[in-house]
Amino acid sequence: MKIKLENITMKFGNFYAIKDISLSIENGEYLTILGPSGCGKTTLIKVISGIWTPTEGKVLVDGKDVTKVPMEDRDTGYVFQNIALFPNMTIGENVGYSPRVKDMSDEEIESIAKEHLELVKMFDRIGMFPSELSGGEQQKVAIARALASGSKMLMLDEPFSALDARVRVELRYEIRRLVKKLGITVLHVTHDQEEAMSVSDRIILMRAGGIQEVGTPLDMYRNPKSIFTAYFIGETNLIECTVSNKSRMGKTEVRLRSGRIVRVSKSNFMIGDRVVISVRPENVYTANDGLKARVIGVVFMGTYWRIRTEAETGDYIDYNLASNYEVPQVGDKVFLVFNKKATRVFARPEEGLEEAIKLE
Ligand SMILES: Nc1ncnc2c1ncn2[C@@H]1O[C@H](COP(=O)(O)OP(=O)(O)OP(=O)(O)O)[C@@H](O)[C@H]1O
Ligand SMILES: [Mg+2]
Repeated sequence: MKIKLENITMKFGNFYAIKDISLSIENGEYLTILGPSGCGKTTLIKVISGIWTPTEGKVLVDGKDVTKVPMEDRDTGYVFQNIALFPNMTIGENVGYSPRVKDMSDEEIESIAKEHLELVKMFDRIGMFPSELSGGEQQKVAIARALASGSKMLMLDEPFSALDARVRVELRYEIRRLVKKLGITVLHVTHDQEEAMSVSDRIILMRAGGIQEVGTPLDMYRNPKSIFTAYFIGETNLIECTVSNKSRMGKTEVRLRSGRIVRVSKSNFMIGDRVVISVRPENVYTANDGLKARVIGVVFMGTYWRIRTEAETGDYIDYNLASNYEVPQVGDKVFLVFNKKATRVFARPEEGLEEAIKLE
């Protein structure tokens, strides 16, 4: 199933929940819609699935205009952000609902329900009612029901939000493995960037009703095209500075606020350009010499320590330290260096750095 969105806009009164969104989704692709709360993710998925008709624009499925076709008449499995199991049906009946509507035999319905409930480890609850389940358990059943519908298109709106971390991680593998095996096209809404990175073929990063950037998780992590993307996908240090030297080959040096010069990755900027560099905590190291900084916080992350420093520039700069190393103490002085190839250089945003990364 191939989906194409052409200039989709959805207005509520005078408010644009989403604005002029165009996008292609390939057959069998696993796409996540990622973005801060209120940016329009649910609105977009509701328009794509036919729950809402957009104010403007078109939704094409396999080349056919379905903008005004209601959801019931489309072949879509949907998991709502607020779980919507049928309260008067058992768990087994809920999952078997779609096969039953399709007039399958009792044995078929039973085996489909069983298979999908086993997948989400809820088979032992088959005879219970939704009200007898916890929120997270209901969410698992809702996922099983959507998968059991046999649709070639699956829409998941925050499907794991009520689940604990371990189950959530487990389901990432399961759901991706399953939909790839079945060749299902998936649109998965989440505000959890780690979840988006781990399940997707591509991520659509949304912000304030528009698309900020679309790309593979690796690309968006390594080569974000905007400061907002660098900031939202993964963690990063953003440091304002000015280009101080630039070779013909593109080698670039910047002057930090403290006057210190550091080398960064190649760029097309010119001497004197006001820029922001992005460097992720795993690309910042300590050395015998470098940017002076004082440790102001230490957090144990399991495999590594996350260390927050206040640098001589006034910036807070975080770095990672493998947890088998001796950890510095709050107040210690350290010297920081950047892996220059892993730095990314952006033009200083006109609206200011704070505005550029604001989450609304
Ligand atoms: N039925 C509606 N009537 C009026 N405004 C709406 C309606 N539905 C959504 N909105 C507004 O549109 C904007 C986008 O909402 P949407 O539900 O798409 O956000 P979201 O990205 O899914 O957020 P979250 O991560 O919190 O679920 C919000 O400002 C919301 O208040
Ligand atoms: Mg939502």
